[in-house]
Amino acid sequence: MLIPFKDGLRGRPGRRRCVLGILAALAYGSCSTRERGVPRDSVATTVDDPHSFARPGDAAVTDLHLELTVDFSRKILTGKAMWKIDNPGVTEELWLDTRDLTISRVTRSGPRGTTAAGFEFGESRPLLGRPLRIAITPRTTSVTIEYETSPEAAALQWLAPSQTAGGNRPFLFTQSQAILARTWIPCQDTPGVRFTYSASIEVAAGLTALMSASREGVAAVSVDRVRYTFRMPQRIPSYLLALAVGELEFREISHRCGVWGERTVVDSGAWEFAQTESMMKSCEKLFGPYRWQRYDLLVLPPSFPFGGMENPRLTFVTPTILAGDRSLVALVAHELAHSWSGNLVTNADWNDFWLNEGFTVYLEHRIMEALHGKPYDEMLAKLGLGELRETLADLTSGENARPEDTHLKLDLAGRDPDEGMTDVAYEKGYLFLRMCEETLGRRRWDNFLRGYFDEHAFRSMTTEGFVAYLREKLIESEPALEARLRIDEWVYGPGLPANAPRVHSDAFAIVEAQGKRFVDGADAEALETKGWSSHEWRHFVRSLPRPMSVDRLAQLDAAFGLTRTGNSEVKCQWFLVTISSRYTAADAALEGFLLRIGRRKFLQPLYEALAATPQGKEVARRIYAKARAGYHRISIDSIDKVLDWKP
Ligand code: BES
Ligand code: ZN
Repeated sequence: MLIPFKDGLRGRPGRRRCVLGILAALAYGSCSTRERGVPRDSVATTVDDPHSFARPGDAAVTDLHLELTVDFSRKILTGKAMWKIDNPGVTEELWLDTRDLTISRVTRSGPRGTTAAGFEFGESRPLLGRPLRIAITPRTTSVTIEYETSPEAAALQWLAPSQTAGGNRPFLFTQSQAILARTWIPCQDTPGVRFTYSASIEVAAGLTALMSASREGVAAVSVDRVRYTFRMPQRIPSYLLALAVGELEFREISHRCGVWGERTVVDSGAWEFAQTESMMKSCEKLFGPYRWQRYDLLVLPPSFPFGGMENPRLTFVTPTILAGDRSLVALVAHELAHSWSGNLVTNADWNDFWLNEGFTVYLEHRIMEALHGKPYDEMLAKLGLGELRETLADLTSGENARPEDTHLKLDLAGRDPDEGMTDVAYEKGYLFLRMCEETLGRRRWDNFLRGYFDEHAFRSMTTEGFVAYLREKLIESEPALEARLRIDEWVYGPGLPANAPRVHSDAFAIVEAQGKRFVDGADAEALETKGWSSHEWRHFVRSLPRPMSVDRLAQLDAAFGLTRTGNSEVKCQWFLVTISSRYTAADAALEGFLLRIGRRKFLQPLYEALAATPQGKEVARRIYAKARAGYHRISIDSIDKVLDWKP
């Protein structure tokens, strides 16, 4: 039953909407939150989030109770979301974000009890979905929305048993960042709004449900159904809501860390991630206490589109970092570091994405340095810098150039926030903070960062807010620093400013010398590669000229088994060389890789390399036709574009 809005509710007093806000809303469906309502504690910032219809300045959600049933046969979640709201009484509408949700009933509660509430959908926009306007009164304290998701919900990947390692039971996982939470929960889907949550999730017996929350209990509902309950007492933004359901086992790493995964991967996960507790200790020493109690990792099936996702208390990771030698665990350091940068102090909207990712890469390097020393970490920094240089070149040349996307502060209004997920936010962001550290000295900088996290914990932060805080704490007492730091150039300007840190790795200089010998004609067997880590191999393969002669590649392959390597990063780098050189001996392995793995970071460059020639594009389309159904929506959306794929 759809109860319509009472006539005349639109445009009631309390709405002070500026003309610009209306124009912006017409253009992108965004809704201005600035100049409306009173900024309150629950809404740490009242910035205009161009990717949300919510109006938290009028009434903001503060707590969620979720009750969902997981239906694998229909690929839907059904149930209800109960939102408590901070309602200062200035509005008669609560605005939530939704996309592809079917709503059956809405009720509202206040001091006089619970009644049905009118609700109405606004116009649907690509990517943003459509706003849900719920009629409330100045005394409404909570609303309950009964709904179900669509089988196409972009945040949900439903895997058939055959797509899992075990092969017996289905699997479901969510990916809410950046603006996909609204495809499985009606919510104020902006990182500027935080709330606590609890949940009750019903699944078939034998499956385990996990969330980005503490596990409270499990109880039988019937002979073949069980219900898991969860509680997240810390306030989080919507993009950190997460759920996974599958046949899962757990292995403990320390009193507060462990690994979840299917039986076939959970032991290798526990071995690979054995240093997680040490990582936590070194991060705590530098940046203050870990405030989320537990830190567990969930190893997902290979179709997970990302390397990792920092869901609080339960990082989701790709199995492609199970290299067997712990060489790819910087990714764990990264996701763990988000427990400070991102989850504790959160980018106010996606234009400030570098505040999440640049800080996190900086913290990740500090953890890796603490664990393995500066020379080791400098190899990782050099790999990152190489990728940044490529990205900067891509963004500043050619007909699709977007030089403004090389600024740290972005303008993504009217665009997919995913477009901000480039090396600029990550690696330029990192270099900016490293430059600050090198200019100010580590002691002063670490003190500053510690204070920054403490003072802004569980709040959101804008780029402007951070820059003002930096000036207030460090520069006001020493104005000469302003010219040395060049903050505005870094944040609001293109490319890399002249004071960018120098990244130098002696180990990589040796690798480059061996690479040069090979290019100059030395035999592969004659190269001095003894003791090289996978980072050195990655750098070596990356530095090879493209294309290379097939004979020379065959020599390298025979000497070092590159086509067979178990390290996904080296493998991907190697395939980029074999594709551009038409080294067909690697084709079968490449196809196997593309069919098995759904991590976009690997898929995208490989499909792009294939698509660079008409013949390669044919091959790519043939492989993609088989692989596509097994990929996540997020990867599909990117690869469809690369291959001009019309579904
Ligand atoms: N939070 C990101 C993943 C993300 C960003 C998902 C934006 C959706 C939108 C995560 O922390 C991340 O950065 N993952 C990286 C790995 C990291 C080591 C650079 C990835 O998945 O590649
Ligand atoms: Zn990250």
